Amino acid sequence: MRRFEGKTAIITGGARGQGRSHALRLAKEGANVAILDIADQIDTVVYPMSTPEDLAKTEQELKELGAEVLAIQCDVRDQAAVEAAVAATEERFGGIDIVLANAGIMASYGERKHDIQAWHDSVATMLNGVYYLLRAVTPGLIERGRGGAICITGSTSSFRGVAYKTEMLNPGQMGYGAAKHGILALMRNFAMVLGKHGVRVNTVIPAGVRTKMIDNEFFGADLSDDAPGGWMANVMDHGPVEPEEITNAVTWLCSDEARFVTGQTLAVDMGTLLV
Ligand SMILES: NC(=O)c1ccc[n+]([C@@H]2O[C@H](COP(=O)([O-])OP(=O)(O)OC[C@H]3O[C@@H](n4cnc5c(N)ncnc54)[C@H](O)[C@@H]3O)[C@@H](O)[C@H]2O)c1
Repeated sequence: MRRFEGKTAIITGGARGQGRSHALRLAKEGANVAILDIADQIDTVVYPMSTPEDLAKTEQELKELGAEVLAIQCDVRDQAAVEAAVAATEERFGGIDIVLANAGIMASYGERKHDIQAWHDSVATMLNGVYYLLRAVTPGLIERGRGGAICITGSTSSFRGVAYKTEMLNPGQMGYGAAKHGILALMRNFAMVLGKHGVRVNTVIPAGVRTKMIDNEFFGADLSDDAPGGWMANVMDHGPVEPEEITNAVTWLCSDEARFVTGQTLAVDMGTLLV
């Protein structure tokens, strides 16, 4: 029996990376999938973001798995666009069961990281965007009365700072950390209210994941060699993991196997937070 047969999932940042991996797994396990992605560049982000071609390619891959798919170009910084995408998904599939608030940017490296706009883009995408999505799906989740699961993508930056010098207090870095901390407040409050409606709200906490967010020509070049010993280390002495490792945790959190798990953070971080 496939775990998500007949369910509908909505996934932000679904064109590539972790969102794409989550979408493919949910589709393989029987879900209808709506993938939302900006599929465009944000100016304060130095590495190439996803494109309409990425979105179309993932849509095609999902269809080849037999899933019903809705691919929507949607900037989660835009509340009206998020609401419209949620409404379109509900209308097409008759409801939503699984909500993955995954879209994110790393404006914490590259020249534009010092622009205050990097703060605004980071918080708008990874905090405002998550709130807009959770707020938009809530009435339907309650009204339909069939429960559901929400998983927000956090980061080890949801729990700790990474800055070890003044330069790292730049808007891009601070916006990332502030947003990733902030989503824990959203998770806990939505979990408290939605629990009695059978809707669970959890957060997955990746450390390094091999996606274009960090696997690009700019990321390493921007890291200076003056980091204190042990900075960003993990107890397994392991580099970035594949997106599917995060998908394993996300799909478990959204499955019936985790039916009494809510308000939790699940770190897939090789023990980064222990160091
Ligand atoms: N890669 C890592 O090492 C790592 C570590 C910890 C947490 N994360 C988090 O994982 C999540 C997924 O990132 P990824 O690693 O798959 O990177 P990625 O860059 O491959 O994918 C992110 C996707 O989000 C989309 N997106 C960005 N801003 C958007 C917006 N405003 N509206 C709609 N879509 C938008 C991008 O276009 C892209 O397709 C992010 O929240 C990120 O912060 C990543």
